[in-house]
Amino acid sequence: MREIRGAVIEAAGRPTSIETLRLDDPRPGEVLVRMTASGVCHSDLHVRDGDWERPGPIVLGHEGAGVIEAVGAGLDPSVVGRAVALSWYAPCLRCRECQRGRQWLCQGSPSLRHRQADGTTRLERADGSPVLAYLSIGTFAEAQVVPATAVVPMPDGVPPEVAALIGCGVSTGVGAVLKTAEVPAGSTVAIIGLGGVGLSCVMGAVLAGAGRIVVDVSRAKLDLAGELGATHWVQADPSNPQATVDGIRGAAGDGGPDFVFEAIGTPTTIAQAVAALPPGGTAVLVGLTRFGEVASFEPFPFVDGGRRILGSNYGSAVAAIDFPRYADAYLAGRLPIERLIDRRLPLDDLEDAFDRLRAGQAARQVVVFD
Ligand SMILES: NC(=O)c1ccc[n+]([C@@H]2O[C@H](COP(=O)([O-])OP(=O)(O)OC[C@H]3O[C@@H](n4cnc5c(N)ncnc54)[C@H](O)[C@@H]3O)[C@@H](O)[C@H]2O)c1
Ligand SMILES: [Zn+2]
Ligand SMILES: [Zn+2]
Repeated sequence: MREIRGAVIEAAGRPTSIETLRLDDPRPGEVLVRMTASGVCHSDLHVRDGDWERPGPIVLGHEGAGVIEAVGAGLDPSVVGRAVALSWYAPCLRCRECQRGRQWLCQGSPSLRHRQADGTTRLERADGSPVLAYLSIGTFAEAQVVPATAVVPMPDGVPPEVAALIGCGVSTGVGAVLKTAEVPAGSTVAIIGLGGVGLSCVMGAVLAGAGRIVVDVSRAKLDLAGELGATHWVQADPSNPQATVDGIRGAAGDGGPDFVFEAIGTPTTIAQAVAALPPGGTAVLVGLTRFGEVASFEPFPFVDGGRRILGSNYGSAVAAIDFPRYADAYLAGRLPIERLIDRRLPLDDLEDAFDRLRAGQAARQVVVFD
C-alpha cells in the first residue's frame, strides 16, 4: 500500500480534483506502474464533460507510459524497471475476438468495467471507499496497478511522452489508416479534424504513401499538418458544411478522395466524410460522438456508388505487436510523434489543459510526472 496523487472525477460531467489516494499492491496478473507521462485525449474530455456516462468516482487518463515498479505473484520479476506504454483496452486473451486476433474488439476486457480482472479496484480514498481507474489504467495518477495485458515494453530510446501517445492517439490514427482501412499506396485520403488522432492519421497516410488532404477550423492545425506532410488543406467554416465537402472534392480531383477519415465525432463532420466520397470511396469513422447522437446520409447514392463506411476502434491495435512497431518507426525517423506535443504540464494543470482542448487550441498536451 502506498499513497499517490491522481485526478478524480466524482461522476461523468464533473470537474477533476487532484486527490491523495491509497494504491494497493499488485495481485496475480497485475503490474504496478509508476507513471512518467500521460497525454490528454479528447476521450478523457468526453467523460469530463458528461458526453459519455461512466461510473465514478474514477481516475481519468488512458494515454499513458511509465516504468514497472512491481509485479503480482506469478509474473516474471525481471521486468521491474522496464519502460512501458499502456494499452487502454487490456485484452482478456480468452474471448472469441481475442482468439481470432482482434483484440481491439475483446468482449471480456476488464477495461470495459474500469476495474481489475477480478472486478475490484486497487485504489481507495482515505475512508476506504473504492475509486475506479478509467479503462483499468487511469493514467492521470502518479502510479497505478494495471492488468498485465495492458503493459507493453518499449524499446530503449523512446521518450515517455512519445510512448504515452503510442498508447492512444498514435495507435488510433496511424492504425486507422494502415490497419483498419489498409490504405493502398497511391490513394488519396482526406482527414477531417487535426487533434492528436487526426494528426496521427496524417502520419499514417504519409507511411502508406497516400496523398493527404487535411481539414480543420484552425489555421495553426493545418500548418502543423503541413509540416507532417499534408499536401492540400481546407479550412472548415462550421456555418457552411457544404463548402468543406466541395473543398475536399476539389482538392482530391477525380470526384473525391478514395478515403475520408473523420477524427472529430460530430454528426455534421461524419455526414461531410460520407458526402465527400466518390463512387467506391470509403469513409473511416474514428471520432466518437456523444452518446445517443445520430448521423445521417442519403442512402441512394451511397448504395448506387458502392461506397463504404468503416468504424475504427483503437486503430485495430494489437498492442503487444503494434506498439513496438510504432515505437521502432519513431526511432527510425518515420513517425515524428514528438511534433504532435505542444505542451507539457503538471497534473495540477489538468483542468486548464481540458479548457484548451475543448476550445480546439491543443495538438497534444502531455502531463509529465517527476
Ligand atoms: N476510435 C477510437 O478508438 C478513438 C480513440 C481515441 C480518440 N477517439 C476520438 O477521436 C476524436 C478526436 O480526438 P482528439 O483527441 O484528436 O480530439 P481534439 O479535440 O484534439 O481534435 C479535434 C479537432 O477537430 C477540429 N474541429 C472541431 N470541429 C471542427 C469542424 N466542424 N470542422 C473541422 N475541424 C473541426 C478541432 O479544431 C480539433 O483540431 C474524439 O472524439 C475522441 O474521443 C477515438
Ligand atoms: Zn484516447
Ligand atoms: Zn478478449
